[in-house]
Amino acid sequence: MTVGPQDTIGSRSQMRRGAIVQLTLLALVIGGITTAVAVIPNWLPPAASEQADRIHFVFWYVTIICIVIYAIVLAVLVYSGWKFRVAPDDDSDGPPTHGHTGMEIAWTAIPFALVTSMAVISAVVLARNDRTGDNPVRVDVTAQQFAWTFKYPDNNDLTSNVLRLPIDRPARFTLRALDVLHSFWVPEFSQKQDAVPGTTTHVTVTPNKLGTFPIICTELCGLGHAVMRSTVIVMSKAGFEKWAKQGSQAGGGGGGGGGAAAGKAVFANNGCGACHTLKAAASTGTVGPDLDKLPDYAKQAGQPLDQFVRESIVKPDAYVEKGYPPNVMPPTFASLPKAQLDALVQFLVDSSKGA
Ligand code: CUA
Repeated sequence: MTVGPQDTIGSRSQMRRGAIVQLTLLALVIGGITTAVAVIPNWLPPAASEQADRIHFVFWYVTIICIVIYAIVLAVLVYSGWKFRVAPDDDSDGPPTHGHTGMEIAWTAIPFALVTSMAVISAVVLARNDRTGDNPVRVDVTAQQFAWTFKYPDNNDLTSNVLRLPIDRPARFTLRALDVLHSFWVPEFSQKQDAVPGTTTHVTVTPNKLGTFPIICTELCGLGHAVMRSTVIVMSKAGFEKWAKQGSQAGGGGGGGGGAAAGKAVFANNGCGACHTLKAAASTGTVGPDLDKLPDYAKQAGQPLDQFVRESIVKPDAYVEKGYPPNVMPPTFASLPKAQLDALVQFLVDSSKGA
């Protein structure tokens, strides 16, 4: 487009105003479509922790900036292609242009300010997300092919394969891996941390919604990686205290009259019922052998019942019952604290004899 001497200042500024209106409309349409793509599908899992709320804030802050920049750039691109396209036979060059100092300052200063603000906000969120407060729930997480174990050192080393956390109180996780790399992830908490053999890693989560959420291993760790899952139950503070107190008494108490209840609690906490049938625990799992038949199995293995039960928990593949595949029961339970293991063995021996 060339500007002839006959053009008046008035018509030129009118043209410019028209271009700005058209560009703005284009940018609004593009921004609207992009915003719909960002907002309508559920890209993120619902947040269930304070850390997740902060991370989602950073996510949306950056996304909004991206949408605005994308809309402006794409509007100029589309407008230019539409208005200034050359005619098929036009081989002429465009008019020479000079730099525009004002624009150069603007397109340097604005991105600098935006990127700096993202860095500052991210740094603040990272620092806050690592704060544990004065009284965190400490949880030792052990990852191994292919199971998670959670131990509460402040509750007599209470051990569970299902994670339980109180609401609105920071939980400080210390992660260890016994064999290869694993990664601890609860999508609703937005926090993810690797478990690395030979060292410990840490992560903090402050759950702020009651409910049950999945725990997922997100580091390819072998054949069972896809099934290396567990569950986190976020409980009321009182409910958690009650559970932890009962569980830690089960772990620490040892023999005495509470033995059966203690063993039953260990059975429930470690999710044994998901795979095994046991009348005394009202469980009906069929993945592994029927535990009401333990005395028969012990006879077939030629071992005293209590010795057989203990060996089957600690070294599950030493004797594999006919009709069940080997290497299915996780070897995790070998790391149960001794008092809990004793209580579990006693419970299984007593209840299978009674069956
Ligand atoms: Cu453990 Cu994947």
